[in-house]
Amino acid sequence: MKLALLGIAAASLVIAWVSPEHPKADFTLVVVGDFHGSLTPCGCTKPMSGGLARMATAVDQIRARNKVVVVANGAMTSGSNSRQTEMKAETLAEALRVLDAEAINLAATDKALGTGLEETFDRLSGERLIRDELRPELTLSNGWIAASWQQGKPVPHADILLVDGGLDSARTLAGTPKVIVYRSNARPPARPEMKNASLLLTPGESGKFLIQLDFRANQMVRYQVTELGPSFRDHRSITQILSRYLQRVGRENLLGKLPRQTSDQSFAGSRRCGSCHQEEFATWKTTRHSDALATLEETKHDRDPDCVGCHVVGLSQSTGFQSRQKTPELADVGCESCHGPGGKHADEPAQNKMAVVGEKSCAPCHVLDHSPGFNFEKYWEKVRHGESTLKTYLENLGKT
Ligand code: HEC
Ligand code: HEC
Ligand code: HEC
Ligand code: HEC
Repeated sequence: MKLALLGIAAASLVIAWVSPEHPKADFTLVVVGDFHGSLTPCGCTKPMSGGLARMATAVDQIRARNKVVVVANGAMTSGSNSRQTEMKAETLAEALRVLDAEAINLAATDKALGTGLEETFDRLSGERLIRDELRPELTLSNGWIAASWQQGKPVPHADILLVDGGLDSARTLAGTPKVIVYRSNARPPARPEMKNASLLLTPGESGKFLIQLDFRANQMVRYQVTELGPSFRDHRSITQILSRYLQRVGRENLLGKLPRQTSDQSFAGSRRCGSCHQEEFATWKTTRHSDALATLEETKHDRDPDCVGCHVVGLSQSTGFQSRQKTPELADVGCESCHGPGGKHADEPAQNKMAVVGEKSCAPCHVLDHSPGFNFEKYWEKVRHGESTLKTYLENLGKT
């Protein structure tokens, strides 16, 4: 057996473990999962991997060469109890149907959201959910039996076991199943672990990867991890399903229904700040902050509660951004995204000084998931301003 690096193309890393003979396979088992509610890569940094639209394209490519059996392991949702979680679960179920997933396992955190969600997921995915008492096992098109396991449950007899647990759990279950799929929030290992004749493997975190196993005479002859980078184009039907989801998020006005902190601190809006701080305003206009909402509008995520908070001013406060129509002056990452509400200061600057802010003001938005390359010194250079405040103001006062 040898480990081969087949290709590195713009973040779509393919690691394959191939047997020396590498004969044609009877079928390819494709394992996906641990979506955690990630339907698309957010696009905050490029290239970013993952997303159902790329995943479906990758599966189609494999299907063009070989008979494919797709299985999907939980968690499907983030586990937070909200209307948006429900909508995402429904979208994911529809997408898994397009992928033709033959066995799907929900995690305990998904099931905790209620039997209503479970039933809808089952229906939309084409009744491919493994369901404790109702449908404890499923027969796959390759003849295998698929079953699931979670903490505290007896170990079922199955060829493939979808586990709501990590590698440690998988190890304790090793024995009869040919394949055991476990959960992990890291990159899948370059080769699967083999224990007591069971292959232990994981699709990794947030639907960023796809695992492919070629079988011949029930022996694995090839294992491959594919990172779903931008080299996979977006699948048409999935793109349609995703855009329907975003339309629903907009139509139900989930953004407007977000809980907010009641505040008596008003926002002035960047333009008004700029009426006195002209140089700061001019600098700000040249930065990407001043176009941050348009960035979301381009991909129709501008009414998506998952995105808007970091691309506007004060979304979490009652006096903050509502919509481009209602609060146009609070669209984009504005002065008050970093400096805090400045309504009072704008009315009477000398009486109401703004607090001094610094590096900490970047932290709520420039988080690891959305800005992995963030470095204050480097980033501040690109948005640097503020040295000339009082001077400009007094000069302007002199003119009037
Ligand atoms: C936690 C805050 C946060 C959230 C939530 C967030 N973003 Fe961003 N986004 C950022 C930051 C910060 C950047 C700039 C990243 C950088 O350049 O380091 C960014 C940049 C972007 C860019 C520009 C990338 C480029 O290079 O042109 C896009 C597109 C984007 N975000 C889309 C989204 C979408 C879509 C969502 C929701 C699914 C989202 N963002 C949610 C903080 C966020
Ligand atoms: C009417 C004119 C005016 C407006 C509008 C205005 N400022 Fe100021 N700002 C000033 C003046 C004058 C000072 C200097 C105050 C001082 O030092 O006494 C100042 C100072 C500041 C300072 C330095 C800290 C301080 O308070 O001394 C910051 C930061 C600041 N302004 C941010 C903003 C932001 C953000 C906005 C919009 C919310 C804004 N300003 C709107 C006139 C204005
Ligand atoms: C309210 C959220 C938010 C805050 C606070 C914030 N940013 Fe950003 N930042 C963003 C978003 C969103 C983008 C991407 C905008 C786009 O491209 O549409 C971004 C982009 C940037 C970029 C452009 C990156 C590039 O490579 O061109 C720089 C630089 C930057 N931010 C620096 C900072 C610094 C420094 C701070 C703190 C002093 C800060 N930001 C605070 C949300 C924020
Ligand atoms: C990305 C975050 C961010 C944005 C957006 C931003 N600022 Fe600042 N600003 C800072 C930081 C950080 C400092 C430096 C620390 C400080 O002095 O508070 C600063 C400094 C200043 C100062 C000088 C404060 C002083 O003590 O001398 C003024 C005035 C100011 N900003 C006004 C503005 C205005 C007006 C806008 C909008 C046109 C704006 N800022 C947009 C983060 C931001």
